[in-house]
Amino acid sequence: MTHNSAHVIKNDPWFGSYASRAEDMRASEIRALFAVASRPEVVSLAGGMPYLEYLPFDELADLIAKMLRDQGTHAWQYGSAQGDPHLRERILDIVRLENITDAQADDVVITNGSQNGLDLITRLMCDPGDVIIAEDPNYVGALGVFKSFQTEVINAHMDADGLIPESFEEAIQGAIAQGKRVKFLYTVPNFHNPAGVTMSVERRPRILEIARKYHVLVVEDNPYGLLSFENKTYPALRSMDSDNVVYLSSFSKIIAPGMRVAWMIAPPGIRQKLVLANESSILSPSNMSQMTISTYLDNFDWKKQIEEYRSMYKSRCEAMDSALRTYMPYCSWNKPKGGFYIWLKIPEGLNAKSMLPRAITARVAYVSGTAFYDTDEGTDHMRLSFCYPTEERITEGIRRLSTVVDDELATVNLFGTARSASGSTHDGSGSASNRTHDATNNPTQG
Ligand SMILES: Cc1ncc(COP(=O)(O)O)c(C=O)c1O
Repeated sequence: MTHNSAHVIKNDPWFGSYASRAEDMRASEIRALFAVASRPEVVSLAGGMPYLEYLPFDELADLIAKMLRDQGTHAWQYGSAQGDPHLRERILDIVRLENITDAQADDVVITNGSQNGLDLITRLMCDPGDVIIAEDPNYVGALGVFKSFQTEVINAHMDADGLIPESFEEAIQGAIAQGKRVKFLYTVPNFHNPAGVTMSVERRPRILEIARKYHVLVVEDNPYGLLSFENKTYPALRSMDSDNVVYLSSFSKIIAPGMRVAWMIAPPGIRQKLVLANESSILSPSNMSQMTISTYLDNFDWKKQIEEYRSMYKSRCEAMDSALRTYMPYCSWNKPKGGFYIWLKIPEGLNAKSMLPRAITARVAYVSGTAFYDTDEGTDHMRLSFCYPTEERITEGIRRLSTVVDDELATVNLFGTARSASGSTHDGSGSASNRTHDATNNPTQG
């Protein structure tokens, strides 16, 4: 018998036996959607899956077969808890593209995806009740980890230039004033998931300075940093401060997620504990996966591949931006400078979560903004991914979505409660959501 993990199991005989940290665990809104959204007739603007069709699988298959023949007993053996030394060396070439020039292979820890890295660092730093400062909205996978360690997440706001330093400092001060212990800032500085915004270069030193002032660690989660649409990369926070930043990145979005290979770069004390935590959690990351990734890096022009991804995702982002202008000009959004996502503010009075079943009936899927909050916020936003569908499908998906939103808007207007998302709904309170610019008035933004 197969179980859909999104279903609640009725009459679970273990109900009442679970640890308190398991009580709040539930399938993410994204996961619950995957089954329906992956039907071919549905245009899925929901998942953050990279588009892998153009990878050189034929040549790769031969090279992986050779690797197995030559080094099979190593590839299928247990490995080091810190990760394969050759791959750790290769990773130094990648992070140099974001100005991390002082790291050594010994500073790098390989993880089973960055998701595993987030789990390790939270396990290491946080007791129940400790505070993590995170951006508002926040990556849903990180929220799940933070919750499972019973931490308290306090939001700091973003605008079009990413995390606002003053908001970060206020969040720390507020927590300290209540006698709470702030353990780290969790930030996705580049091409944020879901907000699409990027922390400006000017703000980066300021954020680090505030973190140092209060002895708060910075956890920099950067899976999208190399996927810029502007032919440039931003300097990693880690490149500006090697003592107070734990840096995470991953092969998931720049090569492929199926191998589950990612890495962390950490200061020596934390790195040592990360290796121990990795060991107690998984013994060692998979040698086979790491050697597959190394085979790819050693034999192909991976920089060129990343260039190709950049240009493909850029065209898809343009297609989505232009379809939104055509079909949903009454919404607002920041046009991202890289990555996978547009964070769309819908007109006031509409509810992205309750509208979703109707969208799926109209054969288009998105993620409701509510998935990215621990509270009941986010009903006024949708996360639209442009990474996976082709440009034609994106345009068709937005057209379908607009019919649902138009219908919904007409219904709400009938009762006289709807107002456009632009203009009066912007209350200026400082979140990335309400600092977005009206796409119709400001062409550079949306
Ligand atoms: C911001 C962010 N962090 C971490 C991850 C997890 O990535 P990985 O596949 O390396 O576990 C994702 C995946 O979507 C992400 O968007």
